Amino acid sequence: MTADNCPALMNTYGARNLKICRGEGVYVFDEHGNRYLDALSGIAVNGLGHSHPAVLATIELQAKKIIHASNLYYTDSQQKLAEKLCSIAGMESVFFCNSGSEANETAIKISRKYAMKREISSPKILTAFNSFHGRSLANISASGKAKYRDNFFPRVEGFDHIVFNDINSLYDQYTDDVVAVMLEPIQGEGGVILPDNDYLKAVREFCDKTGCLLILDEVQSGNGRTGSFFAFQQLNLTPDILTTAKGLANGLPVGACLVRGAAKDILSPGDHGSTFGGNSLVAEVALTVIDEIMKPSTLTNVKRQGRLIVDSLKEAFLNNLKVKDVRGIGLMIAIELFDEYPDLMERAQANGILINVIDKKIVRLLPPLILTDAQAAEICSALSRIINDGAL
Ligand SMILES: Cc1ncc(COP(=O)(O)O)c(C=O)c1O
Repeated sequence: MTADNCPALMNTYGARNLKICRGEGVYVFDEHGNRYLDALSGIAVNGLGHSHPAVLATIELQAKKIIHASNLYYTDSQQKLAEKLCSIAGMESVFFCNSGSEANETAIKISRKYAMKREISSPKILTAFNSFHGRSLANISASGKAKYRDNFFPRVEGFDHIVFNDINSLYDQYTDDVVAVMLEPIQGEGGVILPDNDYLKAVREFCDKTGCLLILDEVQSGNGRTGSFFAFQQLNLTPDILTTAKGLANGLPVGACLVRGAAKDILSPGDHGSTFGGNSLVAEVALTVIDEIMKPSTLTNVKRQGRLIVDSLKEAFLNNLKVKDVRGIGLMIAIELFDEYPDLMERAQANGILINVIDKKIVRLLPPLILTDAQAAEICSALSRIINDGAL
């Protein structure tokens, strides 16, 4: 299956050479019944794997009651989800939408209205070089990779970039117009770049001192991916605005923007909205997903499998001069190679695993949180075959 034989689809993803027909647990199957270990989870979405029984049961039960009622009406499901997310994250209120991009748009709109309150007439939001915040016009302007915005001028104004992990870059770029700093705690699309010790704490302190809002984009790193429900919970700080999406409903479209303190009560009726955001079906599935992720066994497993994979890959590539680095936190893992290899994804597929490759040289692994020791070993031996013995 290639883009050439799907003319009715806009060619935004290039050739697709695998037809996926069904999924079960950490595996997906093609039309010939071939099995692939899904070490990508739909890009950090299917944290509980495919066809998870609790998710299926909730879908069936809720679909029979009601799938969607407009946000003009109250539903228990949405209220319960808002309360649960706020209590987990230490935040005060939530806006629900359908994707990470929309969650970040919400954060940007809140920051701009907060700027009006502070009488800042041309507010700026600082984001990091190499960051990724989504594909809407505001988010491609916010994101720190030029390739996402270069074909789509004019840019949305009001964003400047700082160097991730360099606190002096924030100090240097700060002006009185800066109203918020928006960062991914771990840069995902940027290649699984981890924050240096205390970097984000220093950012938090600077935001406190200057009165600008700290927005953390946990669209990818949230929902158990790093071994805590949100990555920031391992960093001893709390953002003013928190966004998440991807893994929250295990494949049903969802996004959430959470606020607290100065960022709370900025938006008023009429300022923002969403037709589908947080509908009853999505909300009930998200509640089920959260319950599964919050089981201590799930988060402990994420840490365990992450350690197993990173240790095993480090050992496998110890003497491999093609491998520059193996790094990760929880089940957000990268293998960085020195050179580019255009066919790594296809090679992995031929070896029975689905991976993502960034810039042709960073293998990104985002396997389901329910991975077992044996499945972690399966990922490592496939990658070791491809990278060590695969005549790269
Ligand atoms: C950190 C981060 N923010 C935002 C987004 C955009 O999310 P979506 O594709 O759901 O709009 C992504 C998607 O990869 C992401 O990784």
